[in-house]
Amino acid sequence: MRVVKPEELTLRPFHILDKRWALLVAGAQSPNPMTVSWGGFGTLWNRPVVTVYVRPTRHTYTRLASQPEFTLNVLPPDRREAMNLCGSLSGRDVDKWSMAGLKPLPSERIAVPRVEGADLSFECRILANMDLDPGHFLDSGLEGHYQDRDYHRVFLGEVLLVWVSDAFQGG
Ligand SMILES: Cc1cc2nc3c(=O)[nH]c(=O)nc-3n(C[C@H](O)[C@H](O)[C@H](O)COP(=O)(O)O)c2cc1C
Repeated sequence: MRVVKPEELTLRPFHILDKRWALLVAGAQSPNPMTVSWGGFGTLWNRPVVTVYVRPTRHTYTRLASQPEFTLNVLPPDRREAMNLCGSLSGRDVDKWSMAGLKPLPSERIAVPRVEGADLSFECRILANMDLDPGHFLDSGLEGHYQDRDYHRVFLGEVLLVWVSDAFQGG
C-alpha cells in the first residue's frame, strides 16, 4: 500500500461505489464493517470530502455517533462474499470481521481501523452530518426507498489520508 494525495487519485466516481461497493468501518472501540454503495467524492469547504449515507437502523449509525471518524475501503473483486456478508448481517448480532475473514489494520491518522488487503482506503474525519428531509424531496420516486421512514443521515468526512494498493487500476 502506498499513500497518494487525494487530488492525484485516479477514480471512476460513478462506477466504484455502485459496482464494486465499499466497506465503511466505524467505531474506535469495537469497530464494525458495513457494506455501502451510496456515497460520493468531491470538494467541500475547500477540502477533499467523502460522503456516505447511513440509515438510523444500522449498527454503524451508533458507531459513527460514538466516534466522529470512519474509513472507507474498496476490496479486491474476489472478496465479494465478504462484502455480501457485511451488507446483510449486523454488527449488533455478530462479529463480522471473523465471519467474513477480514482483519482490521490500524489507521495512521484516525482511531478507526481500515481493512487489511483493501485496494483503496480513505481515512476520514467527520466534519458534519445532516439528516435527509423528505419534505425537501422533489422527485416522488425517492420516497419509495423509505417504506420504514428510515431516512439516511449524511456524513461528510474530510479525507486525511488515501491508501492505494499496487494492484489498484483506478477502480
Ligand atoms: C451492496 C450493498 C450496499 C449497501 N449500501 C448501504 C448504504 O449506502 N447505506 C446504508 O445505510 N446501508 C447500506 N447497505 C445495507 C447495510 O450494509 C446492511 O443493512 C448491514 O447489514 C448493516 O450493518 P450494521 O448493522 O452492522 O451497520 C448496503 C447493503 C449492500 C448489500
